[in-house]
This record gives sequence, structure tokens and C-alpha cells, in this order.
Amino acid sequence: MWVSWRAAAERALYADDGFYRHAGQPARHFRTSVHASPLFGAAILRLMPDAPQIVDVGAGNGELLAALDTDARLLAVEKAPRPAGLPGRISWATELPESVDGLVVANEWLDNIPVDVVELTAGGPRLVLVSADGTERLGDAPGPDDLAWLERWWPLTDVGQRAEIGRPRDDAWADLTGRVRRGVVVAADYGHTIEARPFHGSLTGYQNGCQVSPVPDGSCDITAHVALDSCAASTPGTALTTQRDALRALGILGARPSVEVARTDPPRYLRELRQAGEEGELISRDGLGSFGWLVYSIDTCLPGAFSARIAV
Ligand SMILES: C[S@@+](CC[C@H](N)C(=O)[O-])C[C@H]1O[C@@H](n2cnc3c(N)ncnc32)[C@H](O)[C@@H]1O
Repeated sequence: MWVSWRAAAERALYADDGFYRHAGQPARHFRTSVHASPLFGAAILRLMPDAPQIVDVGAGNGELLAALDTDARLLAVEKAPRPAGLPGRISWATELPESVDGLVVANEWLDNIPVDVVELTAGGPRLVLVSADGTERLGDAPGPDDLAWLERWWPLTDVGQRAEIGRPRDDAWADLTGRVRRGVVVAADYGHTIEARPFHGSLTGYQNGCQVSPVPDGSCDITAHVALDSCAASTPGTALTTQRDALRALGILGARPSVEVARTDPPRYLRELRQAGEEGELISRDGLGSFGWLVYSIDTCLPGAFSARIAV
């Protein structure tokens, strides 16, 4: 059966037997900032240290919340089942709460919101259809809303060029920010902006730590980079920056301890060296630091050092 990539990925990832409906999935197949270091969540918490509630959207195994040192109410929103052994102070839900007063984090969530793929032909853009084994063929023209999105956010000029239609992610970001009465929302993800869209798109698969061809049969993750600028535009007041700049503004600098400490206090030196390594990974220019951050705040003050460096 031939279906669009959005429908195929929705089923492959989130149907009852889908890739993400098994506990433990994200960490088994790839490494995110959450796995790289607990310093990631701790830094984000500095955006709203007095948050009464912290919501992790697309929480995976709940590692980010489990590592936080806070008295706030903690809620993981995740389609996968609650992992065994997760601390009882973390609530688990499959749907977003109606409203939030606090801090919302969505790390590598937007890229897993399925999108349609189009290819430009001599007759205009055509939807790419896919079968369960990953074979593709071209279908009809996309609908008017999708064509308008392409024209605005991902103009196609060359026959054979591909694009992923980011509208479902724009809607997801607008929906998420719209639920926050007071607080801060951060989405961190790999992405691109209109100046540098990938010519052939970025749809791909991940399985057991390796990048693989995307096959929508539930055996692998299916993901595509996020058109971060269009997401940002869906909620006025959203700032778009890099993880490197955002985390540096929150005090994650990756600075190595002085060698003097190695002489006077070796255990401290080792601790600080390890921390510097973790920080370095979170802000590395060609790695996690190059991720984009969408930041939205409402009715609360962001830390001065952060606002001064990031135009929020
Ligand atoms: C790439 S993983 C990231 C997990 C975790 N945030 C991390 O950084 O390790 C994306 C997660 O988002 C979840 N997810 C995607 N769409 C969702 C939705 N609409 N509601 C709840 N969870 C969702 C998936 O099940 C998956 O566990």
C-alpha cells in the first residue's frame, strides 16, 4: 500500500506496535544531549529556577527529569510506556496538559513529528509516497496549504529537489506554547533555516546507533531536520538561537580546570575535567552545540545574562 511519508511515519513510530511504543527506545538507538550530561537539564532549569512545574515533552525514558535537582512538580509527556524504576515523583502522561505554569522542555521532539516529503517534477511538486519496505514513488500534488508553506519556507527550484513540509511541526510548536499560561518553553533540535535547506531533504532513519535508510516498518527511528524558522514564526515572540549560544549564556562554557588543581586536589581536578568534557560535548560547534533552540517565554523574566545574549 502506498501512503505519504507523514502517514507512514506516524504509523511506524506511534501505532500500538510502533518503534516508539517500546520502553527504552531513544537511548538504545541514539544519544541526545540528555544522555550526554545531566548538566543539560540543570542549565535549562536556570531559565526558570522557581518554576512550580516542569514538563518534559517527548521525554523518552524520563532521564532529563530524573536528573533534576528541584522541588517542582515533574511531568513527562511521552507516547512510550513509563519505564520501570522511574522515580515516583515524576508523573507520566501520553497527552500534553491543558495548561502549564512553569518550564517546558522538548528535546529532540519536533524532529519526530512526522512530515510529508515532496519532490519537484517538471509538472510541479509531487508528494513522495512510500510502501512498508521503504520503496518510493511519486503521487499527487500537495494540497494548497502545503504548497503555500513550500513557497514561503522551502521554495523548490530544481527538478529532483526535495523538501519536507514542516507544517505539522509549526502547529505542534504553536500548540505547545499556547498551553503555557506563565513560563518558559524550550525546544532543542537539529534543523535548518531558509538560507540553507538540504537540497535532497533530510529524512533518515536510526537504528542501534547507526544512520540507516528510513523504512516505515517500525524497525527504526524516522526523523527529519526541523525547519526551525517556520516553527519560530508560528508563535510570535519565539527566539531562535543555537544550543551553543544558549548554553554558554547559561554558564556552560566547557572550561578546563587549572592544572594547579591537579596538584593540590586531584579528585576535584578529575571531577572538573569530566564536567568540562560533558560541557564541551553539549556546546561543540559541529555536534550538539549546532542544534537550534526555540525559546518562548510568557509572563516571566528570563535570567538577565540569557536575555542580554539571546534576543528573546
Ligand atoms: C528523539 S526522542 C527524544 C527523547 C528525549 N527527549 C531525549 O532527549 O533523550 C523523541 C521522543 O518523543 C516522543 N514523542 C514524539 N511525539 C510525541 C507526542 N506527540 N507525544 C508524546 N511523546 C512524543 C517519542 O515517543 C520519543 O520518545
